[in-house]
Amino acid sequence: MTEEGEKKQEPLPIGRMPGGGAGACAMYPAPWKAHGSGGEQISPNGTTFQAHSVVHEYRQNERRGESSARGAGLVFDQEQEESSVQEADQVVQEVANVASNEASTSAAGSGAESAALFSKLRSFSIGSGPNSPQRVVSNLRGFLTHRLSNITPSDTGWKDSILSIPKKWLSTAESVDEFGFPDTLPKVPVPPLDETMADYIRALEPITTPAQLERTKELIRQFTDPQGIGPRLHQYLLDRRETEDNWAYHYWLNDMYMNIRIPLPINSNPGMVFPPRRFKTVHDVAHFAARLLDGLLSHREMLDSGELPLERAASREKNQPLCMAQYYRLLGSCRRPGVERDSQYLPSRERLADEDRHVVVFCRNQMYCVVLQASDRGKLSESEIASQILYVLSDAPCLPAKPAPVGLLTAEPRSRWALDREMLQQDEQNHRNLELIETAQVVLCLDEPLGGNFNARGFTGATPSVHSAGDRDETNMAHEMIHGGGSEYNSGNRWFDKTMQLIICTDGTWGLCYEHSTSEGIAPVQLLEKIYKNIEEHPDEDTGLPQHHLPPPERLEWHISPQIQARFGQACQSVDKAIDNLDFYVYRYQGYGKTFIKSCQVSPDVYIQLALQLAHYKLYGRLVATYESASTRRFLLGRVDCIRAASTEALEWAKAMCQGEGANVPLESDREDEEESRKVKFSIYSKDHLRELFRCAVARQTEVMVKNILGNGIDIPLLGLREASVDVTGEMHELFKDESYNISQCFLLSTSQVACSTDSFMGYGPVTPRGYGCSYNPQPEQIVFCVSAFYACEDTSASRYAKSLKESLDIMRDLLQN
Ligand code: COA
Repeated sequence: MTEEGEKKQEPLPIGRMPGGGAGACAMYPAPWKAHGSGGEQISPNGTTFQAHSVVHEYRQNERRGESSARGAGLVFDQEQEESSVQEADQVVQEVANVASNEASTSAAGSGAESAALFSKLRSFSIGSGPNSPQRVVSNLRGFLTHRLSNITPSDTGWKDSILSIPKKWLSTAESVDEFGFPDTLPKVPVPPLDETMADYIRALEPITTPAQLERTKELIRQFTDPQGIGPRLHQYLLDRRETEDNWAYHYWLNDMYMNIRIPLPINSNPGMVFPPRRFKTVHDVAHFAARLLDGLLSHREMLDSGELPLERAASREKNQPLCMAQYYRLLGSCRRPGVERDSQYLPSRERLADEDRHVVVFCRNQMYCVVLQASDRGKLSESEIASQILYVLSDAPCLPAKPAPVGLLTAEPRSRWALDREMLQQDEQNHRNLELIETAQVVLCLDEPLGGNFNARGFTGATPSVHSAGDRDETNMAHEMIHGGGSEYNSGNRWFDKTMQLIICTDGTWGLCYEHSTSEGIAPVQLLEKIYKNIEEHPDEDTGLPQHHLPPPERLEWHISPQIQARFGQACQSVDKAIDNLDFYVYRYQGYGKTFIKSCQVSPDVYIQLALQLAHYKLYGRLVATYESASTRRFLLGRVDCIRAASTEALEWAKAMCQGEGANVPLESDREDEEESRKVKFSIYSKDHLRELFRCAVARQTEVMVKNILGNGIDIPLLGLREASVDVTGEMHELFKDESYNISQCFLLSTSQVACSTDSFMGYGPVTPRGYGCSYNPQPEQIVFCVSAFYACEDTSASRYAKSLKESLDIMRDLLQN
């Protein structure tokens, strides 16, 4: 795979962005922009015009009897009753009138006009039958009833909703929920082929050379030709969409996780750090562990009873229901290695009456099965769980020798571990141990503290670690969660295949290492934060010695063959080498956070993504393929697509911010002794011009983000077409062997927002040897970044990137704050 493409050489003329005049860029494009009218620019104050154009488009489509407004996926049948269509037409006309009045009076919905409309809508007759105009009218009525009844005089959000009617509300679903959304989650769309290809070309522009791009355009021309293979493959995906709940799910799961052969720690499993605890005695450790496990068990009961609250989108199509499937895969599941492809063990949703609930507790590489709930005696109390943990804590260190580090084998390359696992499970006892671990609710790792050598290698002037445990800083704690610290420390005290490994260290550090294939980070983060907050709000009063007479937990004994024994040495070496290579840095930017960014009328996520681009440009003078996870949970079994932040607009802005200098722009703070030189000077371009370029970059990034979360990204459709080409023709199409495709898939910057409501953070390693990983957690007054790179790559450095990020964020504030 080609790792780095040459940077594109052709700058755009200053002040003109592709697709429209610079003056026409909007800071906050309206949602419908994401669904079809690619490239047009939006007038920020064009509300009335926009409302009318959507209404006009709706009517035109309706009259032509063809597919409805773009993106709605609604088919109008002209033979159906004309009267209902007229009714819909009338409602839309009235909505447009209210929109028009609102634009001039700024008193949305407060006047008699909207009240009259509201009352009229209430009496609107409801039709029946799927795909009928009556259904459309019914859903439209549901939407308007909800929206209009919630309008306040200062509410302007209603405009966005009205403007997104075609996509959201003209659904053919049988019924709608309390917020007017269809009761069943929609399926992930297959966007039109031309749209995917146009967006693909746009995404390639800033990261490929003109020659590479030309070749790709030619391939696309052949591919999309009506006689070419593209339309056939696209139809194949549309057919697949008809028959499957989520046409992309298995393509994506295999491509993203199951087919990947490199080790899980660092490369795939993220680590999460919570604010450390203060343990005075080992009893505190046991009690805290017991409270976490008890919380998990209660959560399990909630899942079993079907009482897990439905989550809804917090913005953009606010209150849209989100798919909850990921939450049901967190407990009791496990990844299993395969020689060619991994698989997942997922517990059945139906609970058997005689099923025990257990966890496996790891301590000094020993493993103990602790039953939390048994069919014959019910659930253990918190204090009983604490007594079991205490037993483990006192038993493991007293055993004559540290056992074979079987868990270390799970840190090996996947095919290697698959072979080892096959060998291991030939023994009956081992087979049972594997089953106990894989079916456990979670694995609990009781760790020993890592050495100070894992502390941050920051930069002069960086903010010091907020949390610490003894002399360990936050970076050190993150290392523990991501990989365990190596064979000398806790890497053998792990089972990296396990979906959730709770980690508690005797020095108070605690957190999570989780296997990523079953869910995105948000699900385990929310689960653990809920339990943690409950612990914080209800401090444990009884932390004394728990007195119970339960049988001690069973220790898992392994029968180790000489072949397996021989493997441990290699496994130790390879995990230690990988850990030595990880350059990781938890960096808290404390200049400002979400509050300031929102005051600039920019989406915080968009803003941070642009800061990440600028930070990269400052160091390397170019942008690279950038991955940002975009949740697609608005769709059935939705996981993620990829927001690509390297855009032509971002490149133009970054170049201008660096005053036209090329690669290897020195960081201002490299010259730390020259106080004056640290001040950023905008000597070439005026601030107004830089702000204009920034607005264009924001508009583009916002558009890409919204497209992705609303199911119209490009990476999932491209993956679908690639896999379809293999399914249909037996080989991968040339388009997916192309140099540009390889460049676009080699994410030299792999990012994701992991928002936490506690002072916690999650991080992971880069996804390519020459790349960066960067997660971020935007807080109101600060942003926590987890930056990663590999020491083996001479061009990258986590602390240097963090420093560039700091400077980027600082100059962005200087640019925008007045
Ligand atoms: N002006 C002012 N405020 C704005 C704004 C603007 N132009 N645009 C957005 N905001 C506000 C929002 O209303 C929201 O307010 P809140 O804090 O009161 O809720 C806030 O800013 C945050 O919005 P934004 O930064 O736009 O992003 P988001 O929270 O919608 O998140 C994604 C965007 C892409 C990160 C999110 O949709 C997503 O997909 N998350 C999942 C990522 C993931 O999977 N991570 C785990 C990987 S393991």
